[in-house]
Amino acid sequence: MAVENPTIYLNGEFMALDRAKVSVLDRGFLFGDGIYEVIPVYGGRLFRLDEHLRRLEDSLAGIRMQPPLNRCEWEKIFDRLIVGEQDQAVYLQITRGAALKRDHAIPADVVPTVFAMCTPITPVPAGGVRVVTLDDIRWQYCHIKAITLLPNVLLRQQALDRGGVEAILIRHGDVTEGAASNVFAVIDGVLATPPKSRHILPGITRDLILELAQEYRIPTAERNITLAELQRASEIWLTSSTREILPVVELDGTRVGDGVPGPLWQNLYAIYQEYKNTLRVRR
Ligand SMILES: Cc1ncc(COP(=O)(O)O)c(C=O)c1O
Repeated sequence: MAVENPTIYLNGEFMALDRAKVSVLDRGFLFGDGIYEVIPVYGGRLFRLDEHLRRLEDSLAGIRMQPPLNRCEWEKIFDRLIVGEQDQAVYLQITRGAALKRDHAIPADVVPTVFAMCTPITPVPAGGVRVVTLDDIRWQYCHIKAITLLPNVLLRQQALDRGGVEAILIRHGDVTEGAASNVFAVIDGVLATPPKSRHILPGITRDLILELAQEYRIPTAERNITLAELQRASEIWLTSSTREILPVVELDGTRVGDGVPGPLWQNLYAIYQEYKNTLRVRR
């Protein structure tokens, strides 16, 4: 259950959410000059923390910033924000901070703004979801988890307007990813997902699914997937830290497979839940 006015972390202090204030000169506000991470928490434990912090460092390096805190400091902050044992996620955002002058050029002496909060994770809808394909209109640094998300916002809304819950994005005829998720497709019995590149976010859930699939000897392939291949896939999944593995049952108004979550999804979903539960018992 959501706490009404949760404690958040902002620039070295813990405070009630309604007391948190950021300067209007913050470059995150003015330019979208910042990055973020979302880390799931199961049974009060941070899930794949090392992987998330590594990606955080990569995102920071991608926008020419140094990590403002170290692993131990992050962990202390996150631990204070976690409430109870329910499934939740830490949202962490770092912007370049507030400079006195609004100038595109990166200022030399500016203190980053660091914000973190914990929010509940809502359960994945049973029965699968509808999605639509849309042209990938985003920039060429999609591997950076940047807060500059206007294209993703517009794409998601376009999907919602057409009765879908997510957009699967197509770039030069190939699938890249969802507006806020990675994409998997079962094609000729092989679980395929696009390879890592500057056109997709290297999803932590994506990597874990590949790892688990390989452990359970499910054939996998990291390769380009054309729109035509996606259209004939027997299963399509969306993956993300907050939505785990979401089966797609309708693509652009056409049924995927039998129009219900497929057998490989059921298999891997169970494996994923079991993996999550090992965290809960390892306390
Ligand atoms: C564009 C995009 N791709 C992929 C993902 C999935 O990444 P992860 O599994 O690390 O949550 C997200 C998550 O929000 C995303 O925004």
